[in-house]
Amino acid sequence: MFSYIFVLSYLSVYSTCLLIFIAVCTLAFLLSPFVLRKFIMDKDGHGIPPGPNIRYAFLRKYPELALDAWAKQYGPLFSIWMGTQLFVVLSDPHVARDLLVTHGSVFSSRKKYFMKNQMILNGRAITASEYGDRWRQHRKIAISVLTPKALQGYSQVLDYEAHILIRSLYEETLHGKRPVNPAHYSGRYALNNMLSISFGTRTVSALDPLVEKALDLAMEFMDLTGPWSNVVDFFEPLQWVPTTTRSRGRKLHDDLITVYGSMIQQVEARMKAGEDVPDCLVKTLIQNQKQENLDWEDLCMLSAVFTLGGVHSTSGIIQWFLALISSNPEIQRRAHEEMDRVIGQDRWPTAEDEKSLPYIRAIIKEVQRIHAPFWMATPHCTSDDFSYHGTFIPKDTVIVLNCYTLHHNEERYPDSFNFNPDRYLGDNLSCGESAKLANVMDRDHWAFGAGRRICPGLPIAEQELWLAISRLLWAFRFEAVPGEPISLDEYEGHSGRTPIPYRLGFIPRVNQLHSLLEMRQETALFNLL
Ligand code: HEM
Repeated sequence: MFSYIFVLSYLSVYSTCLLIFIAVCTLAFLLSPFVLRKFIMDKDGHGIPPGPNIRYAFLRKYPELALDAWAKQYGPLFSIWMGTQLFVVLSDPHVARDLLVTHGSVFSSRKKYFMKNQMILNGRAITASEYGDRWRQHRKIAISVLTPKALQGYSQVLDYEAHILIRSLYEETLHGKRPVNPAHYSGRYALNNMLSISFGTRTVSALDPLVEKALDLAMEFMDLTGPWSNVVDFFEPLQWVPTTTRSRGRKLHDDLITVYGSMIQQVEARMKAGEDVPDCLVKTLIQNQKQENLDWEDLCMLSAVFTLGGVHSTSGIIQWFLALISSNPEIQRRAHEEMDRVIGQDRWPTAEDEKSLPYIRAIIKEVQRIHAPFWMATPHCTSDDFSYHGTFIPKDTVIVLNCYTLHHNEERYPDSFNFNPDRYLGDNLSCGESAKLANVMDRDHWAFGAGRRICPGLPIAEQELWLAISRLLWAFRFEAVPGEPISLDEYEGHSGRTPIPYRLGFIPRVNQLHSLLEMRQETALFNLL
């Protein structure tokens, strides 16, 4: 009896002590930024950039709004702790250029995010690779299929997919009689372009199960890999705890290997059988596998990355365009007026017409400014200590490009919350050219990131957006459905944001539309080339 009471009181003292210990550790952990801000400094005594003295597990639904508020409070260069990780946020064009471009040798790595870079991509797929030779090698291979010459080779494919996009919408809307949600069609358009470039193939109907599968994989990737989607990325001890999110990450990794691995095997089989496989990323990878020392996971992840990075982004911008244009009748009227004046109704616009349709080009840039798919781009990471204008940015700091604040800089974009394509009239540069301008305040927008990691898919994304948006404008008048207002304020998804699903009327506005669309049918890609 005595020993029983003794054990009970011992346990109660033990658990009280344990609770106090946990409480003290938690408090110390939460309050440590006060101390760390004073003690982390460079040799000249410069501390880290200012910022809130709190730690965040993750920023909730609209993190860009929190970053914007902090940028206003702490300035263009501020810092926050997410769990154990220090973040520095860049909210000014000059600071972004100085650090990401001019000092790109220090500011171009990636943090080993547990979920994205370890569980799902296993350090591969370019976007997950740390700055160094392997990243250089993989990016070089990917860029080899995105050079201007290579893009010339795909021009027929892009043109054809834009044709099929308009045709599917025309058919699905029963020639304008029934409103549709454009998400599936813009998604398939972007997907087919990426499948052609990556695998030399395409889906032959909107019902092809690969459409749903590939879009789901890309959506799951976006959901799981936002800059602060997962608390496990910032509290290392949690990496040992089995959770549903962890299982989702593992499953996504396995699904990517299964789906894209089997597509690689199909291309390989066709090459072995002596078929004339169109030039594509996988063909390049297979031909150079030995020489470049690429293992099976390299192959799978590299071939998957275009469909992961280039589908929801491009499709989202098309969806935002449709939402914005139908909510702004005067802008739609001016776009149609320009189209009818320059192109007329006998033919539709092609890639060559871009320079002669400045208002429509301006609309596309303005959509990307006002609803960039990635408000925080893809965070970079420092590979060395760096001192900048009296502040210290230590090695392994995650660097966030705060596109939301950059895109609402009132000096650069007056009345920045207003959708106003006029602000881009007179800007005749492509986004790629604009990113290289000497005066960074003249850069069009930051939707594709900056510096050595800038999106390598930029040139093809611009071509895709041009063909889809200019032809949509040529073919249809867009009408919101009565009683179904389209929300321009809300989003869904943590990263790669698309609008809340909506339905829209696509009213044919050109007599020749039917006969023009009939000229091309759905076909497998290799029949095309
Ligand atoms: C409108 C469409 C697109 C947008 C807004 C977009 C945006 C971005 C952004 C913000 C980054 C991070 C840049 C940085 O770290 O500074 C990125 C990286 C990347 N994008 Fe895109 N992207 C788009 C389309 C594409 C397409 C079509 C492809 C493939 C053909 C692609 C492939 C990639 C890859 C591989 C990376 C990783 C680059 C690296 O880490 O070195 N993206 N993209």
